[in-house]
Amino acid sequence: MLDTIQAAPLVASSDLEADIHGVFAHYRPSSPFISLDTGGTMVLRYDDVSRLLRDPRVQATGTAMPAQAGITHGSLFDIFEHGVLTANGDVHTRRRSALSRAFATEVLNEFRQHVRGAANALIDTFHDSGSFDLASDYAAKLPVVALAGLLGVPEPDVPSFMRDVHAMNEFFRPAPTEQAVAEAEHAALRLRNYLDGLLRAGEKNPSEGFLARYLTLSEEDELTRLEVLVQIVQLVIGGTESVRTALVAQTVLLLSEPEQWKAVCDDPALVPNAVAEGLRLEPGIAGVVRVSVEEIEIDGWMLPAGQLVLLSFISALRDERVFDRPDTFDITRPNLKLARLAFGGGAHKCVADALGMAELEEGLSVLTQRLPGLRLDGTATFHGHHFVRKTSECRVSWKP
Ligand code: HEM
Repeated sequence: MLDTIQAAPLVASSDLEADIHGVFAHYRPSSPFISLDTGGTMVLRYDDVSRLLRDPRVQATGTAMPAQAGITHGSLFDIFEHGVLTANGDVHTRRRSALSRAFATEVLNEFRQHVRGAANALIDTFHDSGSFDLASDYAAKLPVVALAGLLGVPEPDVPSFMRDVHAMNEFFRPAPTEQAVAEAEHAALRLRNYLDGLLRAGEKNPSEGFLARYLTLSEEDELTRLEVLVQIVQLVIGGTESVRTALVAQTVLLLSEPEQWKAVCDDPALVPNAVAEGLRLEPGIAGVVRVSVEEIEIDGWMLPAGQLVLLSFISALRDERVFDRPDTFDITRPNLKLARLAFGGGAHKCVADALGMAELEEGLSVLTQRLPGLRLDGTATFHGHHFVRKTSECRVSWKP
């Protein structure tokens, strides 16, 4: 007779928020799951998380998440109703196809240039001051400016584009207030209309940019106009939220180990290792949410059908079965490629993982080249345990 997950340890979400790594380290060796008092079963181990990401018996949650928040229509609801991230089966394949084809190799090089340019321009704005806030002055802005470049947003529109992206993204962060949700709804609509205008301008004056390529590919797949717009909005959400947190995390972790920071400053070839190890210790996305559609056996336990399943990357990426000294930041680890789990796996694996890695690499590389004397004046804290993570401010300084 198998244990069912009802026998899994019950953990308060508030305890997870207070000490997420401590809670996972406590339960993971003896239990593959924990149950959360706020609902759902969290899967803790690397192998189980990797396997379940590829298991068709656990599926994306469609519109369940906004419904739970009482949202049944509107521009935020449309992101779930018509988007790739929450879709399953053939609908998911159809919505993903044009996106993945649009991210061809030349886009990666083009995108690296946008990130490098944006990182240098941001550093120019505070270079002479001797200090800045890593989260709000750098990590929050860099992905939005880089993405604006890729999408062909004209320079004068970037500030309002950035305001709307930040306001919309608040909805996806942990514990948004009612006011933040209301503002996110307006911002998501403004953004969608703005993107529609960009597409129309591109249709009048055809160009060779990413957006034009995506539009052509999506016509081949017969996506509706709303689907096209929602997929671009999802690119904006996916390409900003996870990157912001990961940029803060990798910089703080590296600066906390001055020898490793210096090693990366001296040898830029170490940047990809530092990025991977940063993603492992503090991934940009805490994990993903699924629902079980059939009974599943895991490690001798029975997961019933109809369960909310939270696949925890934060826990899996510190699994002591897989990573030696799991809590230590070490850019020389032999199995750093396993940190790619931070981009998910299976059908929904990040459609732009190469761009995400490139962005984190360029974001770090420009910092190490321009500000090798950087040091931490405080530290960052991270919040959120099942999807997007939020980061606190974190001041850094150097001798100008
Ligand atoms: C640090 C960088 C990034 C991380 C850690 C990250 C992480 C992830 C993860 C974990 C998923 C899977 C979600 C799931 O299975 O439910 C995902 C999907 C996705 N990501 Fe990323 N991502 C990053 C960068 C980007 C960028 C730069 C873009 C776009 C420009 C992007 C767009 C997307 C989209 C559209 C999906 C949905 C794919 C699908 O459902 O088929 N991401 N990402």
